[in-house]
Amino acid sequence: MKVVMIGTGYVGLVSGACFADFGHEVTCIDKDAQKIEKLRNGEIPFFEPGLENLVASNIRWNRLSFDADPTKAVRNADAVFIAVGTPTRSDDGSADLSYVEGAAREIAGMIDAFTVVVNKSTVPVGTGDKVEALMRNERPDGDFAVVSNPEFLREGSAIYDFKHPDRVIVGTDNEQAMEVMRELYRPLYLNETPILFTKRRTAELAKYAANAFLATKITFINEIADLCEETGADVQQVAHAIGMDGRIGRKFLHAGPGFGGSCFPKDTLALAKTANQYGTPMEIVEAVVRANEQRKLRMAEKVIKACGGSIAGMRLAVLGLTFKQNTDDMRDAPSLTIIPALQRAGAKITAYDPQGMAAAKNLLQDVVYADDPFAAIDGADALVVVTEWDQFRALDLSRIKKALKKPVIIDLRNIYSPEEMATHGFHYVSIGRPTINVKA
Ligand code: UDX
Repeated sequence: MKVVMIGTGYVGLVSGACFADFGHEVTCIDKDAQKIEKLRNGEIPFFEPGLENLVASNIRWNRLSFDADPTKAVRNADAVFIAVGTPTRSDDGSADLSYVEGAAREIAGMIDAFTVVVNKSTVPVGTGDKVEALMRNERPDGDFAVVSNPEFLREGSAIYDFKHPDRVIVGTDNEQAMEVMRELYRPLYLNETPILFTKRRTAELAKYAANAFLATKITFINEIADLCEETGADVQQVAHAIGMDGRIGRKFLHAGPGFGGSCFPKDTLALAKTANQYGTPMEIVEAVVRANEQRKLRMAEKVIKACGGSIAGMRLAVLGLTFKQNTDDMRDAPSLTIIPALQRAGAKITAYDPQGMAAAKNLLQDVVYADDPFAAIDGADALVVVTEWDQFRALDLSRIKKALKKPVIIDLRNIYSPEEMATHGFHYVSIGRPTINVKA
């Protein structure tokens, strides 16, 4: 099939490369001509494990190409995906649809034979209707169907998630469009991936419902973690125990410094906004947004407490800046709230992150960036782990102890074992787990 992907951001580029890898002929479009030139040379604008190789091999096989001008590719396409950004509007928290609408208008003028216009961007319920109406307005004679096909991939494991989804959701009533979508995802049928056909509005809402539910699950376990800290219970064992209940499930019960990233913060806000507009406020989602914001600030208080009540004049080593591991994405990363709060309390920060430092430099002030974990830790008063990069899990603990001025570690991701840390003589504070007294 001939596929066009409008937008070479995260979702667009990963989806485009994966569809090409399925054997389809894919053209990725972006207005930014420089970006297109770089992509043609195999340069990926962000870090995602495996993506560079996937793009390079599909360029080599002539299944993947890039263009700043969509005209030719759209004219020949069976399906045109809209995968542009839907950022949060600064005035009211709703999703800004101007890029989606702009793309739809542009496509409308180019469509030739029957084309499925697939919305992959996360858009509020009812956007498909709007897109269809504005395209119809541009092209009363146009032969097209507008379909919703939300994407559920996670940064850091995006290629795996695209190729092994729990389900594919396709929102349309149009039989011809269903056929095209079935054909596009046919390689997944072989893995027995369920493809769920729904009404368009259902598909749109399902995406927000999924993200808000997951964000709620994380926020719930984070609050349980706080209670564990006060009562001497262990949140990891609580999560394990409740996760064994099939109705609850084990995933997304890892307590931490609060969720971040490009989706959960934006989508919970937008869902709450939509619900208010329809007169059915979602108090749970609103509480999740509030609790998550407060949590990030409370993480700084936790660090201060672990350091004896004041960090004025101290130097703290921070390991991990990105919102989670295996990405260079700093969007809504907890570090962006925690570090300035620590600085306001008088600490100097030396930080290391395997992928996030370039982006962090534009977002954080007065941070000294280190070339490796030990360069950050050396001579610091305490170590704070903010992101759970695998490479931090196996650091030499004896060397950390020697490098730190005081043996204090605050681990906001629970990557170490409290028992082991006590054995090594660390004052070790983690999330929702009892602090074990240092062994003599
Ligand atoms: C998420 C959704 O998982 C994905 O389906 C959707 O398409 C986009 O948003 P992503 O933002 O890439 O993906 O990351 P995810 O792995 O879901 O983590 C989101 C945030 O929640 C991160 O800050 C992560 O650290 C946090 N998290 C996740 C927890 O704190 N605990 C958990 O148990 C899981």
